[in-house]
Amino acid sequence: MIKTILSAAGEPIFHLTAGDASYVISIFHGFPLHLYAGPAIDDDDVEYLLVRVGHDSVVPRPAHTPEGWFSCDIAPFEYPAYGSGDFRPSAVMAKMLTNAQADGSVPVTGGAPTTAVMYESHEILAGKPVLDTCPAIHAADDECETLVLHCADPATALKYDLYYTVMRDYPAVCRRTVIRNTSADISATLLRAYSASLDFTTVDPQAELVHLWGTWGRERHMERTPLLHGSMSVNSRRGASSHYHNPFAALVTSETTEESGMAVGMSLIYSGNFDITADVDAFGLTRLMAGISPDGFEWRLDPGAEFVTPEAVIVLSGEGLGKMSRVYHKLYRKHLCRGEWADRERPILVNNWEATYFNFDDEKLVAIAEDAAKCGIEMLVMDDGWFGIRNDDRSSLGDWFVNEDKIRCGLGKLVEKVNALGLKFGIWFEPEMISPVSKLYEAHPEWALQTTGRPMSISRSQYVLDMTREDVRDYLFETISGVLSSANIEYVKWDFNRNLTEAGSALLPAERGGEIFHRYVLGLYDLLERLTSAFPHILLEGCSSGGGRFDPAMLYYSPQFWTSDDTDAMERLDIQLGTSFVYPASSMSCHVSASPNHQTGRVTSFTTRGNVAMAGAFGYELDLTKLSDEEKDLIRKQTADYHRYYDIINRGDLYRLVLPTDNYNGKTGKCASWMYVSEDRSEALFTFVVIRTSVHPVYFVKLCGLEPKAVYVDQATGKEYYGSTLMNAGLNLTKNYRDGDSVVVHLVRK
Ligand code: DGJ
Repeated sequence: MIKTILSAAGEPIFHLTAGDASYVISIFHGFPLHLYAGPAIDDDDVEYLLVRVGHDSVVPRPAHTPEGWFSCDIAPFEYPAYGSGDFRPSAVMAKMLTNAQADGSVPVTGGAPTTAVMYESHEILAGKPVLDTCPAIHAADDECETLVLHCADPATALKYDLYYTVMRDYPAVCRRTVIRNTSADISATLLRAYSASLDFTTVDPQAELVHLWGTWGRERHMERTPLLHGSMSVNSRRGASSHYHNPFAALVTSETTEESGMAVGMSLIYSGNFDITADVDAFGLTRLMAGISPDGFEWRLDPGAEFVTPEAVIVLSGEGLGKMSRVYHKLYRKHLCRGEWADRERPILVNNWEATYFNFDDEKLVAIAEDAAKCGIEMLVMDDGWFGIRNDDRSSLGDWFVNEDKIRCGLGKLVEKVNALGLKFGIWFEPEMISPVSKLYEAHPEWALQTTGRPMSISRSQYVLDMTREDVRDYLFETISGVLSSANIEYVKWDFNRNLTEAGSALLPAERGGEIFHRYVLGLYDLLERLTSAFPHILLEGCSSGGGRFDPAMLYYSPQFWTSDDTDAMERLDIQLGTSFVYPASSMSCHVSASPNHQTGRVTSFTTRGNVAMAGAFGYELDLTKLSDEEKDLIRKQTADYHRYYDIINRGDLYRLVLPTDNYNGKTGKCASWMYVSEDRSEALFTFVVIRTSVHPVYFVKLCGLEPKAVYVDQATGKEYYGSTLMNAGLNLTKNYRDGDSVVVHLVRK
């Protein structure tokens, strides 16, 4: 997987082979340079790819490179450092006295953050070392290999280890950086410490960026935009990865489609403030970098200390965005999600939130469970409002004690009743929050994040707990564990409903103020680690006012995430198809909710609501006791279908056929379509949804991923087609539809 050769100048060149992709690094006068990333190539020494152009006088050259054409301002760096001639956005910026300044032999020239990252040596390791900080990809020793480039700043005591884990079966390279202060007595300060940077030597001048933007109720909408000269950044400064941007972007060329062309994905396994910057320089060369957002970030590195960045996962596809997504799906399902539920079939649940909001008691929950049991639903989830005195969203967060005015029979008894109906029981928490009206806040106002002397901003009547504090985490571990051990609870929904403001901690020394956001995230991971280790059988579902923290790091702990508070099936098409650019179907929680929909007022048929929700971890979010017999029959059909199709959808390959953002040439109505093909290509499930119809619309959709020479049988009609016909001529779906109509076709190979 990792081959090392020597360049003509006697310096190493590393050819990393990840699945069917290549990633080539060369050391050039000590600089770790990037030469190539993309579909596999057979040559190792591709230094000829370096752009050799004359430079104008304003472009400096490094003191030690004799080549007149070499300038840091155009060189493709593996980990670009600030301040020595590369004027593009830098991956690392550190302040530290130089060795000469520190020994007192020369005057200190001010705290200049000039930084350098120069190769010293390297190691190639079997497998992937565990660096215990943030969640990361896991793989057995024979499934991957790791290159560690040991680098240093020759003028200071800072060392940089660049980690590249190359996956054997996936075109994926996982990158992290470890920064160490080797001084015995001098501190350093990190001002930027990205996880990875990729400088493209061979990209189409018309580079485009694909990313996922959104807001509450409209998460992860895919946007594709040409890159212009200068920088474009998708980021979060909210303390969470957020509804607004997802920690993912892909660089594509203007010609890339779903199934052809280059697509390089960069996905950051991190839940806090992040930045992904794409920068196009004057020569049209593009840099794509991902890491912790430098805004407000300042990390003090004491003598002997090290800082480990989160991991960035680069996926290299030469066959379009579709393949890039399928690689992420499988990689994240098998090598990021952990624990018993990582790849296990998820129970079909009914959640009482949109059924009752805060207005429920034990009897109401049991009534819903009774109907659920008759329809093939497998779990009841009790959402917000079961604790403290919480009858609306204005109190009690932090008081994780059962409200026995509502759950009159007690939690243990309620769970027994639900279990007796044959259903599992799940419960909601919002661990990281504290209501000003709560016993916890009365006892510990200092446990809320705050900055002395500044009024605390309020959001949904709540403050955020200081997760950097061990005492806060201990309290949460003990109270939550108490509830989880008191009854047979098999699922937890972990919510997070506001972002961080006035983020300060009473326990963090002033010189470490710039560490609060990252320390918050580390505190969150610590608590998640403790709870998931103590309760390994529990299925954890992440949530953040819908999908406001739907990121790879959360999937490491919670293999499914509530995709959005917008449960409208038509809106979900954009949200779910956007989410599918990175995240597997098994990670997307999708529920059938009431019609008219509570968020949009739109009326959609029960069948289409089911067909759309079937694209993920399936469930219901409505008052089953109010449904007609006909609707309950439909639930019976949908729950049976879910089991029938589970493998195809959740373990198969996704092909996005028509995105809601495709305008379909204005020739017909607006629609969306996708399909899954089972791993062995023997079955496929095709879905087509009419978003807005038109008069006499004409619809043909071409399928993907089938075996061309195999015959597939439409299970509803018995009609047979060759795979080649379905993929090249397509299905004829022409019919007079109403808005919101949908078609599902199950194909089985003969
Ligand atoms: C926001 C979540 O996204 C909803 O599903 C629900 O759990 C509410 N919070 C409860 O307050």
